[in-house]
Amino acid sequence: MLFLPDWAPNIHPLLVHFPIALLVVAAIVDSVGMVLKKQDIWRRGAVGLYVGGALGTFAAWLAGKQAADSVFLPTDANALLTQHSDLGHYLFYFFTVYAVIRVVMYALNMDTRTLFRTLGYVTGLGGIVLLWATADHGAQLVYVYGVGVKAVPQEMVMVPAPNSDGSSSPVSNEDGGWTFKPTRASSWLDSMTTYGAVDDLQTSMKDGGERGDVLALSTNGRPVMFTFDQSMITVQVDLAMNLDDFVGTVMIVHHVIDENNYHFTSASNEEMKQGRSENGDIYLMDNKPYSPSGWHSYRVVADQIHFRAYSDQTLTVHGHGDDPGSGWVGIRLNGTGTVLLDYMQTVSLRGEGKMDMAEPKEVEMEMEMDDHDDGEDADHEH
Ligand code: HEM
Repeated sequence: MLFLPDWAPNIHPLLVHFPIALLVVAAIVDSVGMVLKKQDIWRRGAVGLYVGGALGTFAAWLAGKQAADSVFLPTDANALLTQHSDLGHYLFYFFTVYAVIRVVMYALNMDTRTLFRTLGYVTGLGGIVLLWATADHGAQLVYVYGVGVKAVPQEMVMVPAPNSDGSSSPVSNEDGGWTFKPTRASSWLDSMTTYGAVDDLQTSMKDGGERGDVLALSTNGRPVMFTFDQSMITVQVDLAMNLDDFVGTVMIVHHVIDENNYHFTSASNEEMKQGRSENGDIYLMDNKPYSPSGWHSYRVVADQIHFRAYSDQTLTVHGHGDDPGSGWVGIRLNGTGTVLLDYMQTVSLRGEGKMDMAEPKEVEMEMEMDDHDDGEDADHEH
């Protein structure tokens, strides 16, 4: 249909707002007129609005008939559509007749007499009840049964498949992100830039139950970080981790420039934090109590000044800060024990995917941080 936006299933949802708004305002104006009887403007206004509302029900009714033919209904929604359609018909008939009567009453000045005025007013309120029932059934069609709606897919994070060539390194996606599904204990490290106590990092493959073999990352207390050096601007990071055997903090780091300058979402057995490290000083954007147990999926979104992190698809920390520009994505461990990692993948949110890979910068491999609190004693909470 001409002028119908591509996303609209039909014109009915666009038109229904007119009768609803006009008729409700008509009833309000009429109520005021019942009190301020000497001010004719309210009476006149109510009649005009009821006429407009009746025309609106005509348009909604016409469009509704076309809508009913243009949508596919779930089985359970059929009876509801029938009721909604019946109510829509009654509503149209009712307000057409009612508007004519109100115009006639107004033209003959009958509605200055209390009896007619009151009858007209109360009948109009009855029509509003009918309007409410009609709109309620229509809204249920949409919001309970999703009729006419292109449902937003409940995006499940797909566990990436292992690399087809048998290698275990992260693989760049066409859209500017990358996928890391480890299948070997250590060869993947060669494709990462590492920082800190990398000699202390022990890696192995472990039985992850239903997840199959997963990567076990063990450290002994000194911080260690690794990044895949594909520069990203806006980024979504998805990964699944198990922290049951780890005491300390795991950071999902992004916009990494070097070992002291990066953004992060961290998870420990006590809380989840979000912030950035600037020359080694930690600035927090948000933190929430958090006590993971078993496997959890994590999603970190960094989109310009908006930073959100989810655990198992539930928003946990949400902060705002300066646009961090671009940088690398990786993981930083600061604690003792073993973190299990099933997979990790990144997506470029705004299609900066065609970017050239950034050349890794020369970075100091020495890390100054050596405590389990990750330098957060010096937190500058913002
Ligand atoms: C005349 C008064 C009517 C009113 C005020 C009305 C109101 C509504 C409302 C409020 C919705 C929900 C829209 C949304 O939230 O997106 C709706 C949906 C719907 N209505 Fe009506 N309706 C009327 C008549 C009809 C008639 C006569 C039919 C069918 C013969 C009909 C068929 C539908 C259908 C199929 C939907 C589902 C969404 C769509 O595809 O448009 N309506 N209506």
